[in-house]
Amino acid sequence: MIGYDPYSDEVMRNPWPFYARLREEAPAFHLEKYDCWFLSRFEDIWQAAIRPDVFSAETGVSPGQILLREPPPPPTFTTMDMPRQREYRALINDTYKRGRVAKLEPRVRALTRELLDPLAEKGAFDVYRDLASPLAARVIGELIGLDREDADALREGIALFFGREPGQVGTSSEGAAAMEAMMERVARIVVARMEAPDEGGDDHLSTWVRARPEGRPMTVEEICGNVYVMMVTGSEVVPLAVANTILYLAAHPDQRRRVRREPQLIPAAFAESLRYDQPTNLLGRRLVQDVEMHGKTLRAGQGVMFLWASGNRDPREFERPDEFDIDRRPRRSLSYGHGIHKCVGEPLGKLEGHVLLEEILRAAPDYEICHAGVERTYGEFLHGHHRVPIEFDSGAAQDGSAG
Ligand code: HEM
Repeated sequence: MIGYDPYSDEVMRNPWPFYARLREEAPAFHLEKYDCWFLSRFEDIWQAAIRPDVFSAETGVSPGQILLREPPPPPTFTTMDMPRQREYRALINDTYKRGRVAKLEPRVRALTRELLDPLAEKGAFDVYRDLASPLAARVIGELIGLDREDADALREGIALFFGREPGQVGTSSEGAAAMEAMMERVARIVVARMEAPDEGGDDHLSTWVRARPEGRPMTVEEICGNVYVMMVTGSEVVPLAVANTILYLAAHPDQRRRVRREPQLIPAAFAESLRYDQPTNLLGRRLVQDVEMHGKTLRAGQGVMFLWASGNRDPREFERPDEFDIDRRPRRSLSYGHGIHKCVGEPLGKLEGHVLLEEILRAAPDYEICHAGVERTYGEFLHGHHRVPIEFDSGAAQDGSAG
């Protein structure tokens, strides 16, 4: 008995031993309770992700939507199949192309320093809560076209929505109330923009309000769904990944010394932290036709979860997968997904991650982790550390930009 259940207390606290057993003993694992399959090996997930004709996103992709059959969200490109997914994703895709994102670097750095400077004077702060989380919310908020107050309020609502208490399966009533309040707030913003469609230039709100996908305007509900999706994806993952990187570097002093001396190693450290402890732990699809895997028949209508974090620790793909090693230069990874739903925000996520790490290492080169305050997220979906307090000598900042 492997005893894997993504909602069990043990798995939420420490999924890694379960993932190792799933990969070895049951690479296509079925849980009757959810009528869902779990894929844990790198290659299986890699191949399934490029078959949207078999593995459909249309009934949702989150664990709640696939496992608990929570109602699908208002349709956005994240929960569409081809060809609609391409048309709706194309509305905002250009903003996230590598060249466009490179031009955001000064803005991302300025926003980072605005948050970091007062923290650096104090000699102590929480990497996730005080710096990376507000930074990511403000950057994506600006791209969407939200003012700062709205972006900060949505970030707080999202944290409540994803929060889990031990024993809790799915969304809490507090989380559901936070979601409702959030959606009302977003609807007011969307309606206001509909009355002044050009106000935001080429921000996402103005783009969606002016767009005519499938030859018709988007509804308020659809635009709200898109705001929510961009806000969640844009503000949740980078902060977890940055907090993780700070923690894992501290746990590996030799690698940390090298990164501090050679900031050009920061991208490798960030990438390795994503491989080693992937924040987007698992996401799913629903089968639209039968498919054979490992001698089992996965039937149309059943759910399938991609255990991304497990794939990124598969020894068939990575040597010594349970070691944190910034010298890997992996040929491929599952960190940003694969196939048509591969992360649209990858270049932005990298830019934010690298700038945040450069600036933290510049302001606090000798940081120490306050271990008593470190907290790992508790939930089935997003994994990583959402409290990483550090303290440091506030006079030790290195001059200039580390970048
Ligand atoms: C280190 C940072 C990030 C990581 C590790 C990450 C990871 C992922 C993964 C694994 C997926 C695949 C989802 C699936 O196949 O169902 C995804 C999709 C997505 N990501 Fe990210 N992400 C990051 C940053 C961002 C940022 C900053 C944004 C904001 C623009 C973003 C927006 C999205 C969107 C909108 C999708 C859905 C794409 C689609 O369905 O076509 N991500 N991301």
